[in-house]
Amino acid sequence: MDRHQLIEHLTFAKELGVAGVSRDPAWRKKGIGAPAETTPDRVFGSPGDALSALRADIGDCTRCKLHGLGRKQIVFGVGNPEADLMFVGEAPGADEDVQGIPFVGRAGQLLTKIIEAIGLTRDDVYIANVIKCRPPQNRNPEQDEVETCEPFLFRQIDIIKPKVIVALGTFAARTLLRTLDPISRLRGRVYEYRGAKLIPTFHPAYLLRNPSSKREVWEDMKLARKLLEV
Ligand code: URA
Repeated sequence: MDRHQLIEHLTFAKELGVAGVSRDPAWRKKGIGAPAETTPDRVFGSPGDALSALRADIGDCTRCKLHGLGRKQIVFGVGNPEADLMFVGEAPGADEDVQGIPFVGRAGQLLTKIIEAIGLTRDDVYIANVIKCRPPQNRNPEQDEVETCEPFLFRQIDIIKPKVIVALGTFAARTLLRTLDPISRLRGRVYEYRGAKLIPTFHPAYLLRNPSSKREVWEDMKLARKLLEV
C-alpha cells in the first residue's frame, strides 16, 4: 500500500467513524480468516474442494429463466473457502456479469473499503450473492429465481461455515431471514442463522446514494468484528 492509498484508507475509516488506529500487533492476532483446523464432517477433502464441486454442480446453469435473459456468466462467489466472515449480496450487476466476480463495480469497491476498515482483506472473507446470474437491467430478482438459486447459497454457507454472515441490503436480509421487514427495521440486531451470527446492514450501493448511513454500517461492522473474536 503506497502513501496515497494509506491516506485514502485512513480518510475512509474516519468517515466511517473510526476513532483511531492501533499499531499493537496483538490486535491482528485474532486468527480471523485463518484456516479451520479440521473439517471431518465435510465429504470433500477441504471446503475449497467442496466449493469447487458445488460450482461444477451448478455448471452452465439453465435452471431458471435468467440464463436466457442476457446473463454472460454465473457469478459464483469469491474469497477464502474457510472464512469466518461471509458477505451476502443480492445479485450480480453489469461489472460482475462481465468479470464473473461478485462486488467488483462501484458498490464492490466500497465493500472492499468496508472490509479493510475492520483490518481484513477480500482474501480473508467470502463474498457471494443470493442470485448467481445478473437480472436484466439490474431489476430485482423474482421469486422463482430466488427459489431456484438460493439452495446454492445455502450450500456455500454450509461448506464455509462462517462465524458471521453480513447480509448486504434489504433483499439479502429479507431472503435469508424469511421476512418482509425493511433493512432499517432488521439492522441493529444479531440473528442466529445456519450456525452463524447474521448481521443485516445497508447495501454498499445504498451507501453510495446515502453516505450519511456509513456510520450505521460502521457500527454493524464493529459488531461483526467483535463477534469474530468470540
Ligand atoms: N450488488 C450485489 O448485490 N451484488 C454484487 O455482486 C454487485 C452488486
